[in-house]
Amino acid sequence: MVSYKIIKVKTPDFNMDIKRIKGMNDILPDEAIKWRRIEDICRKVFMGFGYNEIRPPVIEKTELFARSIGESTDIVEKEMYTLTTSKGGHITLRPEATASILRAYIENSLYVQNPVQKFFTIGPMFRHERPQKGRYRQFHQVDVELLGTDSPYADIEIISLLDYLLIQLGIKDITIQINSLGCKECRPVFQKSLLNFLQGVNKELCQDCRRRINTNPLRILDCKVPSCKKILINAPVILDDLCKSCNDHFNRVKDGIGALGIAYKVIPGLVRGLDYYTGIAFEAITDNLGAQNAVGGGGRYNGLIRELGGPDLSGIGFALGIERLLLLTENNRGEDGDVLLPLYLIALGEKARELFFNLSQRLARASIPNGFSFLTKSLKAQMKLADRNNARFALIAGEDELSDGLVILRDMQTKFQKQIPIENLFENIKNEIMEAEVI
Ligand code: HAM
Repeated sequence: MVSYKIIKVKTPDFNMDIKRIKGMNDILPDEAIKWRRIEDICRKVFMGFGYNEIRPPVIEKTELFARSIGESTDIVEKEMYTLTTSKGGHITLRPEATASILRAYIENSLYVQNPVQKFFTIGPMFRHERPQKGRYRQFHQVDVELLGTDSPYADIEIISLLDYLLIQLGIKDITIQINSLGCKECRPVFQKSLLNFLQGVNKELCQDCRRRINTNPLRILDCKVPSCKKILINAPVILDDLCKSCNDHFNRVKDGIGALGIAYKVIPGLVRGLDYYTGIAFEAITDNLGAQNAVGGGGRYNGLIRELGGPDLSGIGFALGIERLLLLTENNRGEDGDVLLPLYLIALGEKARELFFNLSQRLARASIPNGFSFLTKSLKAQMKLADRNNARFALIAGEDELSDGLVILRDMQTKFQKQIPIENLFENIKNEIMEAEVI
């Protein structure tokens, strides 16, 4: 792998007036290396657990998200990027991946041969939130879904997968918080006692929470306003109202993840920002990200496949935000330091340029990354470029060397130089690079 160092230089002001959209970031080459590392580890872990990649489109009918995530959630109420089609319909840039994966599972009848299907996807999501560290308008998720079973083993596998993935990514100081949000039998019982409580403290709640009493009372439990948090300490707890089936399921999952040695904390006030969850819900929380303390989250959604027009099958999954994973791995720079461009070609004079351009193309086709200056520059300027590109070797050809049938190979680390014959140049250079084990 090759690292192209991005040097921050003072750039002339060209009066550029078209800039990127607020909250949407360029991932520049030196950053992209870190993204690739995360994506590669995720892919390897997911495939090891038997999950198959699926790539739904990034835009879907608005109705898909409204019906699954819930009309009265923040995401659907105010965060979606929605376009009107020429026929007056509405389509939305996906704010998450679960709904699209379920739509694809149903629409392509993937459940027919085997209802139990395991999927993962990696890609951009869009939410019109106020940007801050760890919160963007275009962000990226790795997402997994295990569909077609309500076995507690599925919940245990999903939480185990989350735990193992975080270990493989080298992310420490994470707490896995879990809760059960009940089912269509027991949730209404809890909602009733919660409403009773909320109506009693109505006047002391923030404006947002007062509005939510009528639209989405469960979300009030997640309010971050300190005065609300204080009041909600005394709110009823959903775990007290779970029916026998939800309670048994919750206990089996806790026992199962405990037996795998996964550390977790039961947080009875944990609720999620999407309405589709039933039963187990969980989040991976850190103290190292400031306000955006959730690296990932997920849970079970037992009625959702049917709600979207499919069979009565269950599912469970989670998503992690790649930007947040990157913020947490920012200190793990060891690997990048080792990464070098194997070779930079420095040609002086037209004859040497022609020779080296051809060599550059041959090396590239043999998967040997190399640099070549397209601009005619002095030896000093090109040496500087080799240095900036973190090159391990520089290959130098001037008129004099060429007339002697030689070029010079300079080890940029040891400064040792040696002459290489032009005859069989490609093979000679390939051997030198292989011997130095730069790739
Ligand atoms: P979510 O909790 O909304 O869940 O998002 C999952 C993760 O995406 C968050 O924990 C966070 O790391 C990242 N994320 C969310 N919004 C932003 C943002 N504006 N900027 C940066 N990162 C963000 C879901 O999306 C569910 N679909 C997860 C799931 C899958 N549940 C079941 N299956």
